[in-house]
Amino acid sequence: MPTDKSKAGANEIAPAKGKLGIMIPGMGAVATTFVAGVEAVRKGISSPIGSLTQMGTIRLGKRTEGRSPKIKDFMPLAGLNDLVFTGWDIFEDDMYSAAGKAGVLDRSLLEQVKPFLSSIKPRKAVFDKNYVKKLDGPNVKKGKNKIELAEQVRDDIRDFKQSSGADRLVMIWCGSTETFIESGAAHKTVEALEKAMHDNDENIAPSMVYAYAAMKEGVPFANGAPNLTVDIPAMHALSKQMEAPICGKDYKTGQTLIKTILAPGFKARMIGLHGWFSTNILGNRDGEVLDDPGSFKTKEESKLSVLEHILQPELYPELYGNICHKVRINYYPPRGDNKEGWDNIDIFGWLGYPMQIKVDFLCRDSILAAPLVLDLVLLLDLAKRSPALRGIGIQEWLSFYFKSPMTAEGLYPEHDLFIQSMKLKNTMRHLMGEEMITHLGLEYYD
Ligand SMILES: NC(=O)c1ccc[n+]([C@@H]2O[C@H](COP(=O)([O-])OP(=O)(O)OC[C@H]3O[C@@H](n4cnc5c(N)ncnc54)[C@H](O)[C@@H]3O)[C@@H](O)[C@H]2O)c1
Repeated sequence: MPTDKSKAGANEIAPAKGKLGIMIPGMGAVATTFVAGVEAVRKGISSPIGSLTQMGTIRLGKRTEGRSPKIKDFMPLAGLNDLVFTGWDIFEDDMYSAAGKAGVLDRSLLEQVKPFLSSIKPRKAVFDKNYVKKLDGPNVKKGKNKIELAEQVRDDIRDFKQSSGADRLVMIWCGSTETFIESGAAHKTVEALEKAMHDNDENIAPSMVYAYAAMKEGVPFANGAPNLTVDIPAMHALSKQMEAPICGKDYKTGQTLIKTILAPGFKARMIGLHGWFSTNILGNRDGEVLDDPGSFKTKEESKLSVLEHILQPELYPELYGNICHKVRINYYPPRGDNKEGWDNIDIFGWLGYPMQIKVDFLCRDSILAAPLVLDLVLLLDLAKRSPALRGIGIQEWLSFYFKSPMTAEGLYPEHDLFIQSMKLKNTMRHLMGEEMITHLGLEYYD
């Protein structure tokens, strides 16, 4: 099947030459599991399971053509051997000791990547205890206002670029969930944001300071937590202005992943829903932070919106007009990172007869999150090299990875994992000048 590569500009995506620097605010469970995993894969100790960019294929053209290359062979993505890392944290542990404390990976695996992990030491963090009430640490920057703190982060970025020899950079937030705030006057325009940073306005969260610094350096930014961070008009504008792609929020792992797999199935078959009760126990630092009502509220908002958007009660009032949806997270230290999530789902079928589904997911949060971090940094770097993507701001095609996907103003987010997957792959095809796949398939029966 002929493809029109010139039209979509496949040749225009700049090649992934040289090293890609990954900068991570928050060197906790997710960040260390990600970096240790990349190193283990590079050493041939392990496989990048869960990573679409590394293991996934993409069908091109008609089903009869038999073209299904691996995504990493189809697109000019950075290779794992070209990744270099740095991070910031309020604690002084290097990545090896932080990974040990996080308790996600076995000691035997950590020992094999120890020299590499030990070499990554945290830079001093931008931190405000009001935003993460349950934590306090010594490794924190000082500055007279938030603009000055952003300048210090920009210095860190330049320093890392120089010392690591990276050609390109990406920043990804793996820091704790910050307390709930709403988008307000300080977040409306870039000017208002900068003024608020000068004035040390309390509505500027630490994550915003990092994101602002990254974008001012033209560096793409992904937000793995549910905090507002870049989901405010000022950051959308700055992202376009600086051609620094952004995406978020909140990695789609665990219970929400399962929810966005099951709910589209119910809707596709017109099965009704009375209620969905979700509860979790987890004992890692993330769980401790979420024990604070402010941080939990941020997470809860992110988790609750999912069902409403997938099920569209306004279109199906009889099926989904009266759903009782509850989400609970309980901090229970003995579990560590090995969370358990229960779902009780009250559904109804033909003539309204009720049924129940129970899900008990013994999951490992950071094991599910780490491959998402890898895919996001590689795809954001690609977006920065793509003339079609680098100036558009929010990268909605990366919704696949998030619990609470960011969209242009006025658009509702697409939560259905299967629509998200189709959107992601069609964007890849489009970027590379391949035909999009509609799954119509009538041509096979001509
Ligand atoms: N694990 C998952 O499956 C998952 C899924 C979705 C979202 N998330 C989010 O990802 C984030 C990281 O999760 P985790 O399990 O690694 O948590 P974690 O508590 O193990 O790590 C977070 C780290 O961020 C540090 N930190 C806090 N504020 C900071 C700041 N201002 N600057 C620099 N460092 C800061 C903390 O000291 C900690 O080391 C959390 O916000 C979590 O809600 C995780």
